[in-house]
Amino acid sequence: MYRTHYSNQITEELNGRKVKVAGWVWEVKDLGGIKFLWIRDREGIVQITAPKKRVKPGIFNLMPKLNAEDVVAVEGIVNFTPKAKLGFEILPETLEVLSRAESPLPLDPTGKVKAELDTRLDNRFMDLRNPEVMAIFKIRSTALRAVRDFFHMNGFIEIHTPKIIATATEGGTELFPMKYFEKNAFLAQSPQLYKQMMMASGLDRVYEIAPIFRAEEHNTTRHLNEAWSIDAEMAFIENEEEVMRFLERLVAYTINYVREHNAKELEALSLNLEEPKLPFPRLSYDGALDILNDLGKEVPWGEDIDTEGERLLGRYMLENENAPLYFLYRYPSEVKPFYIMKYGDEPEICRAFDLEYYGVEITSGGQREHRTDVLEEQIREKGLSPESFEFYLKTFRYGMPPHGGFGLGAERLIKQMLDLNNIREVILFPRDRKRLTP
Ligand code: 4AD
Repeated sequence: MYRTHYSNQITEELNGRKVKVAGWVWEVKDLGGIKFLWIRDREGIVQITAPKKRVKPGIFNLMPKLNAEDVVAVEGIVNFTPKAKLGFEILPETLEVLSRAESPLPLDPTGKVKAELDTRLDNRFMDLRNPEVMAIFKIRSTALRAVRDFFHMNGFIEIHTPKIIATATEGGTELFPMKYFEKNAFLAQSPQLYKQMMMASGLDRVYEIAPIFRAEEHNTTRHLNEAWSIDAEMAFIENEEEVMRFLERLVAYTINYVREHNAKELEALSLNLEEPKLPFPRLSYDGALDILNDLGKEVPWGEDIDTEGERLLGRYMLENENAPLYFLYRYPSEVKPFYIMKYGDEPEICRAFDLEYYGVEITSGGQREHRTDVLEEQIREKGLSPESFEFYLKTFRYGMPPHGGFGLGAERLIKQMLDLNNIREVILFPRDRKRLTP
């Protein structure tokens, strides 16, 4: 192995001991009788110090010839000294160049020379060498780990549903059609129908973390054409409130887990991530319309709240309730999909909710309609044909418990958590209207 320790693993107990470090050349400095080399690895930077009298001439002469971003491996002795900026240095005994970097670089990985987002995304591998950018993806990894842990701690079973499917789940628009031998198929917009079908299987509580595909035509800072959705479905619930209660605990757990495990990365991003307060406020659709009305924005009852409305509400809830996270619920049935249950006494409203984070929807969910005859009727009401949903409807005819769930957008969650302007920042290789490579 070329590496025995990452830069952050070199602690005082290693003083005087031999270690191997490896990474990319961050900087080289030649002061004549003494040469310096800083190597960057995933966890930070190490300093290699080469005083002429104490290192082999081969190493001493090679150091100034290194280029930024060459890949090197160094074996040497750890020396803790207040003279070194990081508190320690390594006196090299061997220095190996494993790969040379061409010059000029497509972008500056130190971030000193700012690059446009497009240039960064075209050169994502190098963009990630910037510790601030890498911090985002370390946090993404931690957050998804927390999500998985929380599901398992709460008795959820992980499932995997098909991504090549025959029927639209979230309405007919936004679908990517594809050829499937002699048939027409689509890329899945959501695992919605399949996770619901699993409620008839007895698995009871399921989750899936997988890509969803949406043929959104517009380029916005919060839409991707391929996004990752954290989907959950739970059986034997009595109402949508039970789903909301689970979701808010999941989101709070995830944020707290990141606070605990990514202190260094949050610092790199200059972010003070606050502990979320439970429960998140619940704001009814009618209540939201009243607030918007007071703020001078009219939304006719029965229409969805648009992006601007969401933003205004987000600001209002932050300023007046100190609530970055809050639920919108009791939506008009018209604006929500066929599978959502309506209230028995007020069928014009339904058991759907959205979770908003700084005025951006990060989740939608609700209690589902599990009575076959009512569900079929709701499919018709939306202008769809029950025949094309037969594989789904069948699972409701032989014992389907009441159930509900949600879809939480992984990128939306991370973007809002890290207060970033563009959703493309939080996915390695974004797919948008123009971008299909890399
Ligand atoms: O609101 P959506 O479309 O709801 C569903 O897919 C339902 N099946 C969920 C349910 O269980 N009832 O999508 C859910 C979430 C959104 O709140 C958003 O966070 C994310 O998925 N999302 C997207 N993220 C990025 N780009 C896109 N184009 C997205 N579309 C949805």
